[in-house]
Amino acid sequence: MGNWPKHVTIKEVGPRDGLQNEKTAIATEDKIAWINQLSKTGLTYIEITSFVHPKWIPQLADALDVAAGIERAPGVTYAALVPNQKGLENALTTQVDEISVFMSASETHNQKNINKSISDTYPVLTAVVQEAKRAKKTVRGYLSTVFGCPYEGEVSIEQVAAISERLFEMGVDELSLGDTIGVATPRQVEAVLNSLLKRFPKEKLSMHFHDTRGTALANVLLSLEMGITTFDSSLGGLGGCPYAPGASGNVATDDLLYMLHGMDIATGIDAGRLTEAALFIQNKIGRALNSHYLQTVDPCLS
Ligand code: HMG
Ligand code: MG
Repeated sequence: MGNWPKHVTIKEVGPRDGLQNEKTAIATEDKIAWINQLSKTGLTYIEITSFVHPKWIPQLADALDVAAGIERAPGVTYAALVPNQKGLENALTTQVDEISVFMSASETHNQKNINKSISDTYPVLTAVVQEAKRAKKTVRGYLSTVFGCPYEGEVSIEQVAAISERLFEMGVDELSLGDTIGVATPRQVEAVLNSLLKRFPKEKLSMHFHDTRGTALANVLLSLEMGITTFDSSLGGLGGCPYAPGASGNVATDDLLYMLHGMDIATGIDAGRLTEAALFIQNKIGRALNSHYLQTVDPCLS
C-alpha cells in the first residue's frame, strides 16, 4: 500500500484549459451555466477563463462576460489566467479571486505561446504578480513544458528549477508544473519532483498533467506517493494548448475522481453531480469526450 494522503484538492481547469482548445464555439450562457453546475459539485477551485488576446484564443473572447455572469458559490475559489498587465487590468474589473500567470520552461514554447523570450517574460510577470497582490488576489504560477517541449524536446531539470525559483521569488503562492504535451512518465515525474521538493515545500506545488499518451493517472499516482496533494484536471478530459501541437486534454476530472475515491482519498466532490456537469458540456460540444469514466455512463441521463 502506498503512502497516500487522506485528502486531495482538485483544481478544475476545464472552462479555461478545456474550452480554449475546443473547435466548437460554446455560447457564453452555456459556459456560465456549466460553471454554475461545477460550483455545486463540491469543487473548491474553478479556473473559469483567461484574459488573453482574443485573436490568440478566440474561444475565450467572452472572458469578461463569463466572469461577470457566474453565480459565485461560497467556498469556491474562482481563478482566471492572465498573461500581462492588460489581461490583469481586465481581470481586476471582475470578481475573480485568483490570478494565474504562466510561462514555459523552454524558450521556443514560451515565444510561441506568449510572444516573448523567457528573460523578457520575467519583468512582465513580476509587475502582474505585484499588482495582483496589491489588489488582494492570490496568485498561481504555471510552468509549462516541464517534462518536454513540442519544439525543443527534452527540457533540463535545472532549467525547470531555476524558473520555478524565479516564479516563487516573484511571489506566486503556488506553482503548477505542466506536462503540456503529455509526455511524462512516472520515472521522469519522480526525477523532477525529487529535485523540486528539495527546494520548495510540497504544499506549494501542484501537478498539471495532460493525458496525450495515457500516462497522466500513473503520473498522478507517483506524485501522490511523493506527497503532492493538489492536481489540475478538466472534466471529461477536455482541453490542450493551442500553441503546443499535438497536445490533447488534461487528465479527466471524472477519471481522477474515480481513482482517488477508490483509494479512499477524499476530495469533497460529488461524483453524481460531476457526471451531470460532464454530460451537460459533452452535449454542448457535440461529441463524446475523452474521459474513460464518462464512457461508462448512459448518455441518456443528460
Ligand atoms: P502580443 O501581440 O505580443 O501583445 O501578444 P502586445 O503586448 O505586443 O500587444 C499587442 C496588442 O494586443 C495591443 O493592442 C494590446 O493592447 C493587445 P493594440 O494596441 O495593437 O490595439 N493586448 C491584449 N488584448 C487583450 N488581452 C490581453 C492583451 N495583451 C495585449 N491580455 C499576448 C502577447 C501574451 C497577449 C499573446 O501572446 C496571448 O494572448 N497569448 C496567449 C496564449 C494562450 O492563451 N495560450 C494558452 C494558455 S497557456 C496553457 O494552456 C498552458 C497551461 O495550461 C499549462 C500547461 O498545460 O503547461 C497554463
Ligand atoms: Mg494545460
